[in-house]
Amino acid sequence: MSTLRLEDLKQYSDVLRTRQGEPLNVRFIEPRDTEELQHYFRSLTTRSRYNRFFGAISELPQGLLSEFLDVGARERFTVVATKMVDGFETIVAEARYALHAETSTLEFGLSVDDRWQGHGIATALMKNLECRAAALGAEHMFGDTLRSNQPMISAARKSGFAFVNHPDDWKLVRFDKEINVAPKDIPCASWRLAALSRQAESPSASV
Ligand SMILES: CC(C)(COP(=O)(O)OP(=O)(O)OC[C@H]1O[C@@H](n2cnc3c(N)ncnc32)[C@H](O)[C@@H]1OP(=O)(O)O)[C@@H](O)C(=O)NCCC(=O)NCCS
Repeated sequence: MSTLRLEDLKQYSDVLRTRQGEPLNVRFIEPRDTEELQHYFRSLTTRSRYNRFFGAISELPQGLLSEFLDVGARERFTVVATKMVDGFETIVAEARYALHAETSTLEFGLSVDDRWQGHGIATALMKNLECRAAALGAEHMFGDTLRSNQPMISAARKSGFAFVNHPDDWKLVRFDKEINVAPKDIPCASWRLAALSRQAESPSASV
């Protein structure tokens, strides 16, 4: 499954648009983002952090921080959406996704800076993730959220996800979407290239 060369893809970033048309840059996280990423999580409201991690944390614990920064390890990836604020590239959203090759699924979680919520960023980011999922050969993408997390449940529903019970935890609900579209209309330039290179390598590949 891992025919993608991450080094080749790192040079690409995708431009997403907020509902108001403002551009956001989406790219893999890099070691230089460490402080900014922690600042981003510290700046989230307590509720947003709780909804993201299903527990009370004030910042990423060291082990989790290392995992966030280790892009591609065990088919897990972190992307950040950034915009320029007062001359600084500032993180306004993040997403982490994992490819489960054995089930052809892509699992993800994400968050948006509270000051930027309600601007369509999660919607745009999920479309971008859908493209990445297709490029990786996933047939479904899914995420888990607290049953009490109405914003995420509404956002997922609006983006075409269906809901099922979580297999192990009654406090969570799983949202799932079949990936059955070619990613050509989705802003995910780097991963379209990846999909093309996979097709070239393996004519029988589905994406
Ligand atoms: C859930 C979350 C990611 C949504 O991000 P967002 O960028 O604000 O979402 P969007 O602007 O794309 O909104 C899409 C839809 O979600 C729903 N929604 C978003 N915020 C909402 C809120 N506060 N209350 C109710 N519905 C909401 C709406 O249906 C919205 O569509 P509309 O604006 O056309 O009505 C964001 O609130 C967040 O980061 N929360 C904290 C972390 C978290 O809960 N992560 C999920 C764990 S997987």
